[in-house]
Amino acid sequence: MNAVPLSLLPDTARVESDGSLSIGGRRITELAAEFGTPLFVYDETHLRARCREAVETFGPGRAYYATKAFLCGAMARLAYEEGMHLDVASGGELHIALHAGVPADALALHGNNKSMAELRMALTAQVRHVVVDSFDELDRLDALHAEGLPVPKVLARITPGVHAHTHEFIATGQDDSKFGFNLGNGDAHRAIDRMRRSPSVQLEGVHCHIGSNVFEASNFAKAAEVMAAFANPLDLPELVLGGGLGVAYVEGEEAPSIRQWGNVLLDACQALGVRSHVSVEPGRSIVAAAAVTVYEVGTVKHIPGVRTYVSVDGGMSDNPRPVLYGSGYEAFLPRAVGASRSERARLVGKHCESGDVLIFDAALPEGVRVGDLLATPVTGAYGHSMASNYNKLTRPPVVFVRDGDARLVVRRETYDDLVRCEVI
Ligand SMILES: Cc1ncc(COP(=O)(O)O)c(C=O)c1O
Repeated sequence: MNAVPLSLLPDTARVESDGSLSIGGRRITELAAEFGTPLFVYDETHLRARCREAVETFGPGRAYYATKAFLCGAMARLAYEEGMHLDVASGGELHIALHAGVPADALALHGNNKSMAELRMALTAQVRHVVVDSFDELDRLDALHAEGLPVPKVLARITPGVHAHTHEFIATGQDDSKFGFNLGNGDAHRAIDRMRRSPSVQLEGVHCHIGSNVFEASNFAKAAEVMAAFANPLDLPELVLGGGLGVAYVEGEEAPSIRQWGNVLLDACQALGVRSHVSVEPGRSIVAAAAVTVYEVGTVKHIPGVRTYVSVDGGMSDNPRPVLYGSGYEAFLPRAVGASRSERARLVGKHCESGDVLIFDAALPEGVRVGDLLATPVTGAYGHSMASNYNKLTRPPVVFVRDGDARLVVRRETYDDLVRCEVI
């Protein structure tokens, strides 16, 4: 069986002369010794390169990093430094971006159920755009206008009726969706009419997002076509076509690059006569392949005639994607990254449920034993950001590596953190 494909590893990943893996000039085994496990290791060079690729493709300020994919102050600053704007989808994400020093003018606020408090925060800070998702939200913006808050510049989120080929839970552009104003039933037109007449908002454009982890360029081209037909007669300055570009997680998968995806979208828009500025909101494609998660093996249980279970010291609390979406991953030994993987096992975590699976049928090198480090690549998106304290596990730290330096950007939670919010 094959060794883990190096194409799944971050840009600066190298196989050292002893066969071990380094990223950003740092051996993974040394990072695990220094910071403990589980550990998220992000390749800073890779992150910066993907941000730059997005900015070069779409233009400065035309590529919004979707912070839900992975957010901490260091990431917010990095994306902004590289010329990206940021898409935040809650008051918490907005707070982290502002706290990191990203100017409000570089932020767009999303959400299908923004609270008065979240909207008040965004209007007070004067974010670049509020992406309005419902008539109820327009009522709230009217109420905030009556309170005397600044009039926000807004985009209308449209549900274009395009079904993206991805997991049901992350498809968002189809008619049966909690997001946006439905184009097919006339809500989108009604929303635009209301926003145009409203003194509470300044309508600047329209927005759609058809889903996440989408591989087929034709899905994006279809969304561009539907949106162009809707947006062109409106003659508004902004058209945002969302994020959603898929990434390869396992051997054999291939995804378009950010540049290729951009060319599909921009060519389609040009051919469709779009005059608005076209922006996008990539999340996963910026951060997913930039990181690996490093675990330590704690038990190896052979059940003859059934299967082998290899348990590591994390699990669904640092990567819920396999449980949520049945997502696939690969695993490898950082001390022997080129080792062929001839054994099969279920790679599981340490949580108290059988669903706590990281890889359902993992290809692993022969003889994986207790105390080994195992790493899973392509864990930079929707891992740390979806992490939980289930079973009161403390969430892992995040380290950015670059040119031989390892920078701790999120420390490991402590047991004291676990009781910090308790009121006794
Ligand atoms: C509105 C919006 N924009 C952008 C994104 C980012 O998508 P992705 O991480 O797939 O690029 C999402 C993800 O769900 C989203 O809901």
